[in-house]
Amino acid sequence: MFAHRTGWKREPNAYSAALNGARARGQTLIDLTLSNPTRCNFDFDSRAILDSLRNPASLDYDPQPQGLLSARKAVAGYYNCHKLEADQEQISPEQIFLTTSTSEAYSYLFRLLCDPGDELLIPGPSYPLFDFLADIQDVQLRRYALFYDHGWHIDIGDIAKSIHERTRGVLVVNPNNPTGSFLHAEELRQLTALCRDRELTLISDEVFLDYEIEAAAEVSVALCGDCLSFALSGLSKLSCIPQMKLAWMVVNGPEHLRKEAHARLEIIADTYLSVNAPIQYALPQLLKQKQRVQSQLFGRIRANVGFLDAQLESCRTVRRLKVEGGWYATLRVPAKKSDEELAIDLIEQAGVVVHPGHFYDFPQDGYLIVSLITPDSEFQTGILALLQMVE
Ligand SMILES: Cc1ncc(COP(=O)(O)O)c(C=O)c1O
Repeated sequence: MFAHRTGWKREPNAYSAALNGARARGQTLIDLTLSNPTRCNFDFDSRAILDSLRNPASLDYDPQPQGLLSARKAVAGYYNCHKLEADQEQISPEQIFLTTSTSEAYSYLFRLLCDPGDELLIPGPSYPLFDFLADIQDVQLRRYALFYDHGWHIDIGDIAKSIHERTRGVLVVNPNNPTGSFLHAEELRQLTALCRDRELTLISDEVFLDYEIEAAAEVSVALCGDCLSFALSGLSKLSCIPQMKLAWMVVNGPEHLRKEAHARLEIIADTYLSVNAPIQYALPQLLKQKQRVQSQLFGRIRANVGFLDAQLESCRTVRRLKVEGGWYATLRVPAKKSDEELAIDLIEQAGVVVHPGHFYDFPQDGYLIVSLITPDSEFQTGILALLQMVE
């Protein structure tokens, strides 16, 4: 009775089984994967957030496929005040489509660009949700390599080699989750040239763009007019309020392609009209919240990176890879066993929860991922216990 595409394997993997088992036994666990910002002890302006949802204008139903102009103006304002925008053409509200989440934006784009079986190129290692998003839309994914050499880089040659007649686009995550690597200006130049020449679309997930840790953001694909491009972002990371469910995409590129994409997307968006009115009226106020919460995140991330580095100074076998941006740190550990086995040992023997690299498609074993927004004291206890066991 069910479609093949939903026949996912649902039995818990060994890691989830170990985690569930530890929780069921009542074992005390230190969770170094905490990345839900509403549960990491940040101080939100609760009153401003809740009051923003009380606009009487929401009592009227005014269906707008792209989203209300007032909300899209606020999003355009975010880009046009961004330091990357200096000397560039301004983004207009006309280029913006609101969605409930970046996941929904991906779904619209996969439907816009791909027939069943068409292919998109995605980075590896990267965001694990891509597989599900692609399955649901009958899209095939092919991974291109990111490689580490004093920082992560995109293997443009690998992308060029992977393109074939059913390839429809290239996805980048800027900065990438979990490697934290920003898309570099030269990489964007090469990618847009490739996309333009091979008639491909460039899609960039920029939910972490504001989080600059050891490097600065160099580019945003929102400004990329050389090939058909889409930049995705939203409130879940910018203002750390994922529960509010508001995201967007910015369409850019040569005019004839942009217009065609726009007209088709408008019909997809009109079919769902999924973004509710109160959140659209609240958007200008909710975007303002980013100043208050981002400054707290930066403080937390810097403190956690500082603590981690101080501990690693005396470690022989564990090192931290460069974190250009984002919320995560990648630890390089000895690959004496699989990452999953190591993560399970950490749960069972040290009571510490981390993500094994294979969740994110790291090419080999020897990688563990920790969240840098974990509350400080938990982070410190967890890192000490982790290092003691791994070292
Ligand atoms: C790279 C990336 N994109 C998108 C999201 C989720 O965004 P949204 O809540 O808007 O779907 C996440 C969440 O962790 C993410 O890591």
